[in-house]
Amino acid sequence: MLMHSDRHAGIGPLDPEARALAGRFPRGFAWGVATSAYQVEGAAHEDGRGDSIWDEFCRRPGAIKDGASGERACDHYHRLEEDIGLIANLGANAYRFSIAWPRVQPLGAGEWNEQGFDFYDRLVDGLLERGVAPYLTLYHWDLPQALQESGGWANRDTVERFAEYAVEVGRRLGDRAASIATHNEPWVVAILGHEAGNFAPGLKSQKVAMQVSHHLLLSHGMALQALRAERCVAPLGIVLNQAPVHAASNSPEDLARARLDDGLTIRWYMDALLHGRYPEDVLEFLREDAPQVAAGDLDAIRQPLDFLGINYYTRNLSGTGTPLAPVDHGREVTDMGWEVFPGGLTELLLRLQVDYRLPPIYVTENGAAYRDRLVDGRVADAERIRYLHRHIAAMADALEGGVDVRGYFVWSLLDNFEWADGYTKRFGIVFVDYATQRRTLKDSALWYRAFCRAAAAVTPSTTEGRNHGR
Ligand code: FCB
Repeated sequence: MLMHSDRHAGIGPLDPEARALAGRFPRGFAWGVATSAYQVEGAAHEDGRGDSIWDEFCRRPGAIKDGASGERACDHYHRLEEDIGLIANLGANAYRFSIAWPRVQPLGAGEWNEQGFDFYDRLVDGLLERGVAPYLTLYHWDLPQALQESGGWANRDTVERFAEYAVEVGRRLGDRAASIATHNEPWVVAILGHEAGNFAPGLKSQKVAMQVSHHLLLSHGMALQALRAERCVAPLGIVLNQAPVHAASNSPEDLARARLDDGLTIRWYMDALLHGRYPEDVLEFLREDAPQVAAGDLDAIRQPLDFLGINYYTRNLSGTGTPLAPVDHGREVTDMGWEVFPGGLTELLLRLQVDYRLPPIYVTENGAAYRDRLVDGRVADAERIRYLHRHIAAMADALEGGVDVRGYFVWSLLDNFEWADGYTKRFGIVFVDYATQRRTLKDSALWYRAFCRAAAAVTPSTTEGRNHGR
């Protein structure tokens, strides 16, 4: 059941500053909300869905902070109609979601699961009926466990399995998807999953992680080639987590470390995707941990991109000393301990535009976790409103600086399963009471709704001449 807290006076009509902000974007700009399959769907073992590496990882004692899993999550699988209504009711014109590979191909090879595809058919059609454009992601971290058992992303065969999976999804949904992204945040999959080991599948080897990062990029390139060979009409791209890397001090050591981290997190992906090479300084640093790259791989990775998705939350501070949390420096942080640093989004986009020939850009994730409380049917999350406002303004600055930004997605529509943090972090603009699965619009949802309405009401003349600075 959906609770509307509109009756609360706290959030009235849009404040004039936010209204002016909406006017800085062109008509047709995508204003969306985002989720991912494992974080919201639940129904983890229903209608033929196979196990994913996250189901398996969650069974490991101590892997997830609250010992939880995505087994039920937001029960989105059973509440599809309600949730589509929720998205439409927010006034969003775009929704970013991911397909759970093991739901549509339980073993990651061989048979397709029709019941799984039915679910995504209903989702896509339901969105379109409500005027919401479906932005689809193929891989938001839930590899079929059966593939992990034969080596997962460290095994080059997985690259081919992924390309086959991409083609099948393209055949079935490509005619209706507003876009198809291959991967969400390959850095996270490679490094947190295979080097830090705090995400599935929980391995701890730099060498394996770098091989995985190469296979992820290669699978992206192979998938794009295969989808295009099949005449998939949806625009194709990839989503990267990117953040400017700032040195913790001006010492030569810290500056050098920051440059290396810039290479490991930004240039490794951007150079490969857009220039068809890995950065020399990073290869030198990795030495024998550098991935095995077969002849032709980098050409395969460098495919024309119809768009690039950027997920932005904070900047990275890097140095050689003991890392200090931003909060220790007296900086404003979210409940994740991530520094609130909106200017980093402008800086990042302007810098990428100088260093690369960028395709159209979407900010595919941006948002914040706070310790929200539901009190008398209301969640007063003024901090999140401020966070969203400041980041949208930072994006407007980049747009006016000439970056071809086409859309923005709040992470997240719903409070959900936040990976290793379980249900302890709330990123939603809609509050979820996990015991009852009741959804309540937070103040930020009411604000975003008013903002989306104001953005939709922008007349062409308001933005004329400012359209991407071109
Ligand atoms: C991103 C993930 C997303 C969510 C946010 C908070 O790295 O893509 O699933 O966990 O962080």
